[in-house]
Amino acid sequence: MPSFGDFTGPSRIYRDRDVLSPHFIPDTLHFREHQIRELMSILAPALQGRKARNLMIYGKTGTGKTCSVKHVARKFEEERQNARITYINCRMYNKPYRILSKAIKALTNGLDKQGYGLPFYYEKMLEWCGEGRQLILVLDEIDMAKNIDELIYTLTRANDELERGGVSLVGISNRLTFKEGLDPRSKSSLYEREMVFPPYTAPQLQKILQQRVELAFNKDAITPGAINLASAYTAQESGDARYALKLIARAAEYAEEKGLGRITDAEVKGAREIVETDLVKEAVDKLPEHHQLVLYAVARLTLSGSKYARFEEGKDGYLFSGEVYEDYSELCSKLRKSAKTARSYRSYLTDLEMLGLVTTVESGKGIRGHTKLIKLGHTPQETISMMRHKFGE
Ligand SMILES: Nc1ncnc2c1ncn2[C@@H]1O[C@H](COP(=O)(O)OP(=O)(O)OP(=O)(O)O)[C@@H](O)[C@H]1O
Ligand SMILES: [Mg+2]
Repeated sequence: MPSFGDFTGPSRIYRDRDVLSPHFIPDTLHFREHQIRELMSILAPALQGRKARNLMIYGKTGTGKTCSVKHVARKFEEERQNARITYINCRMYNKPYRILSKAIKALTNGLDKQGYGLPFYYEKMLEWCGEGRQLILVLDEIDMAKNIDELIYTLTRANDELERGGVSLVGISNRLTFKEGLDPRSKSSLYEREMVFPPYTAPQLQKILQQRVELAFNKDAITPGAINLASAYTAQESGDARYALKLIARAAEYAEEKGLGRITDAEVKGAREIVETDLVKEAVDKLPEHHQLVLYAVARLTLSGSKYARFEEGKDGYLFSGEVYEDYSELCSKLRKSAKTARSYRSYLTDLEMLGLVTTVESGKGIRGHTKLIKLGHTPQETISMMRHKFGE
């Protein structure tokens, strides 16, 4: 008979589990030296009492944007004289007054009065900066925030009003179309400087994994082949370091369940499908509502089959862009929401494609002229089950 001792004793695999948690940031971030230098050079003026340029950082998911900025923020805070960086995730703090209240709370160590509006926090910010201090607001996942135009306008006005001190913005996003939704004045203000983080290649992922594995696992608890395989899978999918780390963590779990002392190719292979599903679910949960509705419409139509299509060879499973828009609009009216314009709809499609949730191709010249064809990235059943609780029929 097994005893609990079999499961609660020291792990044969792990030396330190925290190293594979999403919050762990290694001291050295390989392949981001260049981005880190550039970030530091952009923010350095704030340490000398001058306003830093606003900066927008863009890059696909898992390219190290958040960890690089946090790394630099940590160093900045060690130096701080009359300058502070506050990191805010806009998924949690998604309105201008909430963003500023969170920042003020960090600056003043605690004052967290609820129920005040933007003007209150604006005054507090002016007071803080007015003593000759520089504030840098990092807004991660900035595309999740509402009324970003209003926030940018407010900060610009603050800088105009301040005789000493100032406030700068660093925005981070993995959504290419975020820029298009901004009004032209906020766009030119936020995009004073711009940085793009490229996806990692297989050899780069391999080195990133190697570094983590050495800290997380006992010696020889993973074969070099398993690391290579995880890197190769990841590079094939997306170059997303988060995916690679999850793959390894899940493979470790399998090895432990099987009572093995070593992670091999077999565990990495076994982990692949489940990690894929987890990450898709995470991506879907993070989507704004109308993106989700469009994706839901694509899944629904995929199940029922295209109304029009008799596609050429090799275009099976594709839908016409127009019919998806119709179905999306129908879904909206059923849920008593107003459908967005066809133009917004097309930008949602671009975002969904960037996240690998759909693929699109241009149709050849056919009966319906040139149009976009859309195909779901995952099975419709799976996609629907992730959103049924919200839109389900
Ligand atoms: N160069 C690197 N070295 C070590 N670990 C890395 C590196 N780049 C990314 N990681 C790790 O990969 C994971 C994802 O990175 P991060 O959260 O910074 O991605 P991101 O670009 O912010 O993605 P998203 O757009 O989804 O927010 C984190 O666990 C991070 O620690
Ligand atoms: Mg991030």
